[in-house]
Amino acid sequence: MRAAEFFSGIGLVRMALENERWQVVFANDNDEKKFAMYQGNFGGTDFRHCDIQDITSESVPKVDLATASFPCIDVSLAGNRAGLAGKHSSTFWEFARILKGMASKRPRWVLLENVLGLLTSNEGRDLREILRTLNSLGYACDIVVVDARFFVPQSRPRLFIIGKPPIPNSNNGLLRTHLARPKAVVDFILKNPGLDWSISNLSPLNIKRETLSQLLERFPDSSSIWWGNDRKKHLYSQMNELHREKLQTIVRSQSDSFATVYKRIREGKCRAELRTDGIAGCLRTPRGGSSKQFVIQAGRGRWRVRNMTAREYARLQGAPEFTIDVPENMALLGFGDAVCVPAVQWVIRNCISSNGQIGLRNGKNSKAQALSDVASIRS
Ligand SMILES: C[S@@+](CC[C@H](N)C(=O)[O-])C[C@H]1O[C@@H](n2cnc3c(N)ncnc32)[C@H](O)[C@@H]1O
Repeated sequence: MRAAEFFSGIGLVRMALENERWQVVFANDNDEKKFAMYQGNFGGTDFRHCDIQDITSESVPKVDLATASFPCIDVSLAGNRAGLAGKHSSTFWEFARILKGMASKRPRWVLLENVLGLLTSNEGRDLREILRTLNSLGYACDIVVVDARFFVPQSRPRLFIIGKPPIPNSNNGLLRTHLARPKAVVDFILKNPGLDWSISNLSPLNIKRETLSQLLERFPDSSSIWWGNDRKKHLYSQMNELHREKLQTIVRSQSDSFATVYKRIREGKCRAELRTDGIAGCLRTPRGGSSKQFVIQAGRGRWRVRNMTAREYARLQGAPEFTIDVPENMALLGFGDAVCVPAVQWVIRNCISSNGQIGLRNGKNSKAQALSDVASIRS
């Protein structure tokens, strides 16, 4: 099966698709640096390096699936919440324009990925707009939330919207909460029976992964990667009591363990915050240096700290073998914006390749069907 990958970044959606035996025949992104990383891993022959505005429907080959991991800045809780009208997230409309123009060669499936903030952006109006648009293009939709932590030691919940061919005979009773379909998503579906839904029958989501300690690289004491005393002291000064106590707990332990650290602005102050639960915080794009992730190794009365490496970022995104032949900061930026490969594979397997699904269809009789589905789910 063939796919077109929009907002392809460094190509981790492509990696997931290829792992699931799909062939990616078209990719587009406007970021030159990410293109360099993409090219280093997948070549560049299928890649259109330009603004999505400059892509015509005619120039996209016939494919079975189109993916769009579109920018999150305007829908993210940490962003400006301008939503789909914002400068970045409004690029969804360009994707929709291309799909619309593809007419008879429109792909059978679409897969959108974004942050959880999309669920509540403009009180749900943005998500509804997206779903309504996909419905108008002939897709019945499903929404799942998959956290990377099931596959890798990284907290990274992401919202996936799947557009599928509508199914004629809807079944009911399968829409229930699941680790990948939390109550907020079920509630959203139930509150919108007028949309065309095609709910996938999801397999259980179990934690199957390496530990953070297994995944982290090891460096000798003499390595220049470890921070000097002044920088270390400064980091300590940015920890509040709670985080100093977390640090002391692992320092007192009889064996070495690891914590990850992020700096965040809290009430106008830069704060260093530790995670000692064996899961890295969500990787971000380290623009301005403030959101790089650090690694503390502690135990037997001592601790030391270093920057997390690009190879560790790659492993935390489920792409351990990714060729990294660009400067470290550029790689961190690429991986910080990317998707977690096995999380995307899980969505492809459960929502696209699999057949188990129920439909809540809009339209003449189907609206009544949808309402009766909703009633049966509530009872
Ligand atoms: C969330 S990232 C997608 C990351 C990608 N899934 C990966 O695995 O690397 C969004 C991407 O959209 C791209 N982008 C933003 N605005 C764009 C535009 N107007 N045209 C084309 N690409 C754009 C960015 O360069 C970025 O790589």
